[in-house]
Amino acid sequence: MEYPTFGRAGLVLLGFALAASAAEPVRVAIDAAKTSEPISKYIYGQFIEHLGRCIYGGMWAEMLEDRKFYYPVTGEAPAWTMFKPGMRSYEGEGHPYELLTRSPWMILGDKQAVAMAKDDAYVGEHTPAIAVQSGKPGGLMQERLGLVEGREYEGRIVLRGDAAAGPVEVSLVWGGGASDRHTVTVPKLTDAYVKYPLRFRSGASTDNGRLEIAAWGAGRFRIGTASLMPADHVRGWRADTLALLKELDSPVYRWPGGNFVSGYNWRDGIGDPDRRPPRKNPAWTGVEHNDVGIHEYLDLCREIGAEPFIAVNTGLGSVEEAARQIEYVNGAPETALGRERARNGHPEPFDVKWWAIGNEMYGDWQLGHMPLTEYVKKHNRVVDAMRAVDGSMRPIAVGAVGEWSQAMLTHSADHMDLLSEHLYWQNEDDLLRHVRQVPERIRKVADAHRQYRKEIAALKGKDIRIAMDEWNYWYGPNEYGELGVRYFLDDALGIAAGLHEFFRNSDIYFMANYAQTVNVIGAIKTTKTAVEMETTGLVLKLYRRRFGATPVAVSGAYEPLDIAAAWTKDDKALTVAIVNPTGEAREIALDLRGASWSGKGMRYRIAAPHRRAHNAPGKPRAVDIRTTALTPGSPLDAAALSVTLYSLAVD
Ligand code: AHR
Repeated sequence: MEYPTFGRAGLVLLGFALAASAAEPVRVAIDAAKTSEPISKYIYGQFIEHLGRCIYGGMWAEMLEDRKFYYPVTGEAPAWTMFKPGMRSYEGEGHPYELLTRSPWMILGDKQAVAMAKDDAYVGEHTPAIAVQSGKPGGLMQERLGLVEGREYEGRIVLRGDAAAGPVEVSLVWGGGASDRHTVTVPKLTDAYVKYPLRFRSGASTDNGRLEIAAWGAGRFRIGTASLMPADHVRGWRADTLALLKELDSPVYRWPGGNFVSGYNWRDGIGDPDRRPPRKNPAWTGVEHNDVGIHEYLDLCREIGAEPFIAVNTGLGSVEEAARQIEYVNGAPETALGRERARNGHPEPFDVKWWAIGNEMYGDWQLGHMPLTEYVKKHNRVVDAMRAVDGSMRPIAVGAVGEWSQAMLTHSADHMDLLSEHLYWQNEDDLLRHVRQVPERIRKVADAHRQYRKEIAALKGKDIRIAMDEWNYWYGPNEYGELGVRYFLDDALGIAAGLHEFFRNSDIYFMANYAQTVNVIGAIKTTKTAVEMETTGLVLKLYRRRFGATPVAVSGAYEPLDIAAAWTKDDKALTVAIVNPTGEAREIALDLRGASWSGKGMRYRIAAPHRRAHNAPGKPRAVDIRTTALTPGSPLDAAALSVTLYSLAVD
């Protein structure tokens, strides 16, 4: 690498005064020869949980609510009620939002004609059984479906009944006129459950489409389950969400929780999806349909090119169940559970490497929470049992800076590859505080872990790094269902500054998983028919694609800007990222040592005129990544309220 030719006094003034900037240029020294430990690719991880509208209602393409009739069909309305959360900012500041609290299925015809049959229920505890009389059609319907004109929908329905009860008409309906529907007819029922395929085309766009299931004969029939998805779904995943997940391009996804996992039985999520039981979400408000289980999650990972990272249940779950789970996932096809996996369509072991051993077991909100002294023993037993099945698994233990992390590192250092930490931030009215709180706490956790390395004898000769496997802002009204908070430009600035802090501590942070991904405190937001990248998602996408891999030394009195720099993997470019959390544009006077900038390169910028600028699905994008090619003489600057990433081609 050649050293640059410096101008007078060794300083190259690469910025030119901006109209908006009256201030002195910000002097930044970058020593490209002074490198630190490469940034782990896992810093760009993501997290998804069975919670709110993250998986169901965000990623999974199913359009029907409660398709397996967890709630009894009573005909009582409304099914959706406004829930008033607590006043705390992570609860939603008291702003009401809608939750499904009873069956969304409405009764067509006589309400008394519908009963929930417990005998020979198709799935779950009961199945709606409907009596119809000649000339009076009866059945069920569900409203509030998002339909798009000309779009195809496909699905299936499971029916059983008296031959005379039919025909059964299943209609997709988009309006009030007689012709505003597309109907599939099942001419004759049998007394065993049979699955019938459905395919429709919508004649109009609406947010209140409906699916009607009506029998026209005389007799009894049952609806076992039904499913409806846009026909472009990818093995059940929503095509539009998948496209944004691919843009987000994360290398690793943690799943299935979160608090959810401490009450989750992985066996509920395997086998015929239509027969998997619907359950109350053990930790959150919704219904767990069990349409997404181990196979679907691993299929998603394959589809988007991410590594899996599965959390096992160390709350209400047992040591034995965790061992059986890893055998199911990674066991050879000849093992008992490997055989079961093969019967479910996947003979080859999935070879999942990363395993979260529990979630936040230190908190009294966690299902199965127990005293630390007990938990340490349980953790070790779970890891021993899982390792006995697959010695190559990489366990990530539950940590929380302070007594919990200290005890885990003291008593379980032989039973973990990484120790997890979680950090969430709330709103600060002061913009600088809002942004800087993120790197400050990330730094504190790193410092605490460095201290543990000095103090804890069990860590001698070990290199147990941190997996910050949940980190994000979390505050404000729930706009996209439970925990569906919105993000603004100022949050994007904080997330970028947080990434900078991970880079500055690349010796101790091995993994970080932005929590979460879709709708629930998510980097992507969805409506029934649209998707959009949040401001924070844009930052994650930008850095994952463009920021370098080997950090280099940055110095100077540049605060309140936050600056990080790194060599790209191929050493062809030096990337310099600048967060400007002020309302004032600044030019950058770069004192570059250890490299020679050719004058060429690219500038990627996320900026907006005010801190609360944000994106929303179905609306024009307010905040985006703007790309500009640099030519010799291009100024280096940091626009007001911006994240700017320069990729400087070196000679
Ligand atoms: O991400 C939301 C919740 O936050 C997770 O379920 C839990 O682990 C954390 O407290």
